Amino acid sequence: LWAAPVWVQSVTDSTNSQLLHRLSEGQQLEAGTVLVAEAQTAGRGRRGKSWLSPFGANLYFSMYWPLEQGIQAAMGLSLVIGVAVAKTLEQLFQLPVQLKWPNDIYLDGKKLGGILVELAGQSHSQCDAVIGLGLNIRVPPHLQALIDQPFVALQSVLATRPDRNQLVVVLQQQLVSQLQLFNETGFAPFAAEFSQRDLFAGQQVRLSSVKQQIVGICCGVDERGALLLESDGQRQSYYGGELSLRRM
Ligand code: BTN
Repeated sequence: LWAAPVWVQSVTDSTNSQLLHRLSEGQQLEAGTVLVAEAQTAGRGRRGKSWLSPFGANLYFSMYWPLEQGIQAAMGLSLVIGVAVAKTLEQLFQLPVQLKWPNDIYLDGKKLGGILVELAGQSHSQCDAVIGLGLNIRVPPHLQALIDQPFVALQSVLATRPDRNQLVVVLQQQLVSQLQLFNETGFAPFAAEFSQRDLFAGQQVRLSSVKQQIVGICCGVDERGALLLESDGQRQSYYGGELSLRRM
């Protein structure tokens, strides 16, 4: 069985930054290469937020993946990653995982993990993606008050403590298999799998960007992975990683 390398670091600034740095230096990485760390000193979340990364507590995971369809595939990519992470957690732990567009992992309506996709060497034919995943396993009590939104950790919903090594390997396999398919077919075959797990399906939501806010009913995603919102009787598609979605 073929498997790309898994690198483990004790402490690093950010596993995403480390892989991006290697790519910017021209290092050739094997597709599916994973870097995990026990702690991050400068963990990064989406929209410029920081991501608390205490030692040995949670999963801090980054994977290198070459996107064969170039930057226009990036929107679908983040949703496919969410689907792959959800499937992994469903298989390993029989948990009913939900996804919040574009790429948050939820359980019981609370955030279990987040995904930060960063692109390098952008061109229209090929670009490199670094896929970062932070998954709450066991959030130390003294840090819980510092988290600015409702969250949940795996250990608090499972009877046993999850094995992080097993989780890393199964995540790598599941991500590689889904991303190989995605490189061949694009997003369309994944739309139903995303919609089945859509946290806000049928609910009234507010979509915010720096410039504007749109209120509408969440109607899933289209075949390219754009969010479908219905407002004033009209359905419209919305793209973009810098948008934020809230329940009304
Ligand atoms: C979010 O929900 O805002 C995304 C969080 C992503 C965090 C992970 S942890 C591993 C990787 N390295 C980082 O610096 N960030 C991502």
